[in-house]
Amino acid sequence: MLSLGVSCNHDAGVTVLSDNQIVFAANEERYTRRKFEFGFPENALAEALQCCNVSTFDAITLDGQMQTPHPSRANLVFGDKTWMSQLAEINQLNRVFFGTRAGVTFSRSLLRLLTQGHRNHYQSRLRALGITGEVFYAEHHKAHAASSSLLFPSDSGLAITVDAFGEGICAGIWTLKHGFPHKQSVVPGYHSVGLMYLYITHLLGFKLGQEGKVTGLAAHGDGSRVRDLLLSRIFFDQNRRTFVNHSLGYGTPALERLRKDLKEFSKEDIAAGAQSALETLVLDYIRAAIESSEFEKPRLYLAGGVFANVSLNRRIADELRVASVSVAPNMGDGGLSLGAALLNHDSRVTFQTLYLGTEIEPTIASLPVDLLSQAEERYTSELEGDVARLLAGGQIVAVARGRMEFGPRALGNRSILAAAGDKGINDSLNKKLRRTEFMPFAPIVRDVDAAEYFELTQELWAYENMTVTCYAKDRTRVQCPAIVHVDGTARPQVLTRERNPFVYEILSKYQKMTGVGVLVNTSFNMHEEPIVRTAETAFRSFITGSIDALVLGERLFCHRFLTNMIG
Ligand SMILES: [Fe+2]
Repeated sequence: MLSLGVSCNHDAGVTVLSDNQIVFAANEERYTRRKFEFGFPENALAEALQCCNVSTFDAITLDGQMQTPHPSRANLVFGDKTWMSQLAEINQLNRVFFGTRAGVTFSRSLLRLLTQGHRNHYQSRLRALGITGEVFYAEHHKAHAASSSLLFPSDSGLAITVDAFGEGICAGIWTLKHGFPHKQSVVPGYHSVGLMYLYITHLLGFKLGQEGKVTGLAAHGDGSRVRDLLLSRIFFDQNRRTFVNHSLGYGTPALERLRKDLKEFSKEDIAAGAQSALETLVLDYIRAAIESSEFEKPRLYLAGGVFANVSLNRRIADELRVASVSVAPNMGDGGLSLGAALLNHDSRVTFQTLYLGTEIEPTIASLPVDLLSQAEERYTSELEGDVARLLAGGQIVAVARGRMEFGPRALGNRSILAAAGDKGINDSLNKKLRRTEFMPFAPIVRDVDAAEYFELTQELWAYENMTVTCYAKDRTRVQCPAIVHVDGTARPQVLTRERNPFVYEILSKYQKMTGVGVLVNTSFNMHEEPIVRTAETAFRSFITGSIDALVLGERLFCHRFLTNMIG
């Protein structure tokens, strides 16, 4: 069976499934070079068709949240006003339309009616690309749930979805039958804890999509007073097992109210308070879902943008009675194309890898001569060993090799690697890449070494996709200070040889040379840009970012300023 999944919203994307394999998955942002690209994923679709050499599918499933095809009118929360956001600002009306089940049912029906034109628009664009097949629509939160529960094999368990707002809903509890999610209950979007976190993100001067900066900043503050203030406005109702936003408000008025209330607090304390409130609310929500389920210790499947929060995920894994925690690797709206495709695909998919996007073609001849002349190609008979030697010598090496990762994390094919022994690399490398971060770089470690460096409370596979933090061991704090946060946690990528033999070999050789089995792994992109996709973008970023060396496919380039290190 051949299935196509398409999402046309925030962080639009495309997934192709063939029998038990995911054969292609990518998000549109990597093609247009605009983060979280909104709308019809034309470029990703074109690439999918070319890569899979197919245009007729047994099932085509679109994410059901059909918003306007015009990106400038799409921002519900901040900035340009849609009719929905204008409605949201009329006090009491928002509470009725987005805060009650009946209101949400009515709003969704109305929205479906009003967005029929958008559905027709997207279907005609599919036809224009020559794509044929029966078209289905998937419920937004159901597609989130499936992006985790149908990806990791298990016959039963609970899926929990929490995001800011999707089709009028902000959270859901799903029981699983052979991985397929069945709705138990949902929370209307007005009571969104994800939106609360977004308001704080905006208030602290960060943009939509930079919530991770709040999570990083949180470890630097004392959040007790801000947490209490937030929880006095939005709380978890144990009896009804739902979030209740009773005085936080909604939309821009909520933002203004918070701005006034939080005037006296430092940025760090506000971030810490928001993080703590989010963790308290979501843990209570999941705990109650487990208590009211048939499971004593369920397998837990998490999806939705809120689970991009790696500190929250650690607390869920560490503090709740669960058999395992599986976080969707592309947990936000970027993963909806995968979830949507899985919902109408007859075969069970065997998840093997996230390297599902564009294969790199290491040709850079089209780049301007002045750019090319700033680097020198080094001919190497043992690429992994040469890269390990550069890293051991304190050089920074970017890797653009093989197929691009699907999801927000770089997992070794579009990564920047560096030694983790110098804490100062966080500042110096961020400066080169023109980034500001409050969380240190993430580490990458081989499966055989992981337990030596980290306090792992989950099975190793739970750490393969960088979706959860854990505590670093004492030796790690001494040997690898660059990857340990001020609260003692780290966000490792645990790597198996099977998953990425090239980077695994680099780690093995680096470990032999230095006695250290951990490297820094950060995504290969410049400030505010999506992760690099093509050889040209990779080479340009390598030069602009003054990175010491670049692995491009099987080729190795060194900056002209790098002295002759390779023997
Ligand atoms: Fe969502």
